[in-house]
Amino acid sequence: MSLRKIMDGIYAVGGIDWHRTSFDELTPLHEGTTYNCYYVQGSEKNALIDTIEPKMMHVLLGNLNRLGVKKLDYVISNHAEQDHSGSLPKILEIFPEAKLVTNAKAKPMLQDLLLLPEERFLVIEDRATLSLGNWTLEFILFPWVHWPETMFTFLREKKILFSGDLFGSHYASSELFASAHDEALYDGAKRYFAEIMYPFRQNIASGFEKILSLGPSLIAPTHGPVYDKPEVILSLYRDWTSGVMRNKVIIPFISMHGSTEVMVNYLIDRLIDRGIEAVPFHLSHVDVGQLAMELIDTPTVVVGVSAVLGGMHPAMAYILYFLNLMRPGVKHVGVLASYGWGSKMLDHIQSSITNYKPEFLEPVMVKGFPKEGDFVLIDKLADTILEKHRSLGIA
Ligand code: FEO
Repeated sequence: MSLRKIMDGIYAVGGIDWHRTSFDELTPLHEGTTYNCYYVQGSEKNALIDTIEPKMMHVLLGNLNRLGVKKLDYVISNHAEQDHSGSLPKILEIFPEAKLVTNAKAKPMLQDLLLLPEERFLVIEDRATLSLGNWTLEFILFPWVHWPETMFTFLREKKILFSGDLFGSHYASSELFASAHDEALYDGAKRYFAEIMYPFRQNIASGFEKILSLGPSLIAPTHGPVYDKPEVILSLYRDWTSGVMRNKVIIPFISMHGSTEVMVNYLIDRLIDRGIEAVPFHLSHVDVGQLAMELIDTPTVVVGVSAVLGGMHPAMAYILYFLNLMRPGVKHVGVLASYGWGSKMLDHIQSSITNYKPEFLEPVMVKGFPKEGDFVLIDKLADTILEKHRSLGIA
């Protein structure tokens, strides 16, 4: 059980998934995760804000039982993804009086995903309110902080922002409040931002003033600890969504027989010579969450790749596809490639990049092992990167 009291009448009633090792079958989890949901008992009515991953529904039901909840007036769905909505059918069955409160975009999604009946919904508009008696819940539509239907619930009198996925972290801990944690939490929050929120950073940045204007005293997301000093996470998000770049190059690479790796290592040394940070990722054991974290402030990516049957190595195809999904702010892309007899790799690489518009730097395409002239080209590539970074004011 993981019932935690936030203050009188307000409880965290979700679950801690200590041992989950990946999310969306895509990103590794190093610290487990939590599925947070919150119970608010007003003087006249009560509300459950979000639900829980279905496999942990017994935890939510146990917590409501411990609180003596016999009836729910409102169940609020801030986000339709199943780790927060998946227990709605059971909750609505157990609490037949409860109205399911959500917005017009979320309603059809919840119906499609969970086959929920029309009559249970109470659809609200942006800035609509519901009274619980002494307390007021305000709904703030904030689409695309993860899916198109996302919204927040704000408990006005206590200034608690129930922010859904935004400001979350995949961080399992028995300590509810963020101030009890050390820097490791903020590494986890950055990883979560990079994996989940980075593609939506412009939406977050453009809505930031709206969040600040609420003056939240607590931020209670659906994953990880509750921020009892919201200014800390708000400041980090302002930084992560700022688009500020560092003098850095990410180098994802895969090398079948060592030729590409020789070029990558040579480039790394030449970047270091020029005072540029180099961050290589060997694709045979890459952690895409770590790669995503590095993307936040990286202006330049150089891919190092071997040919397989004339095309790029499938491991690189996967990573380029992932990068494309992330819509990074990357401004320059370089290529170090080795092939045996012929190659369409450059076409493949360039056509993999559609969601962002980098400048392609002069590629170094090598037949077999790199020769003296190829190393000269890599020297030039390093010079070009330095020049580009200088023009960005970061070198
Ligand atoms: Fe935690 Fe987008 O769900």
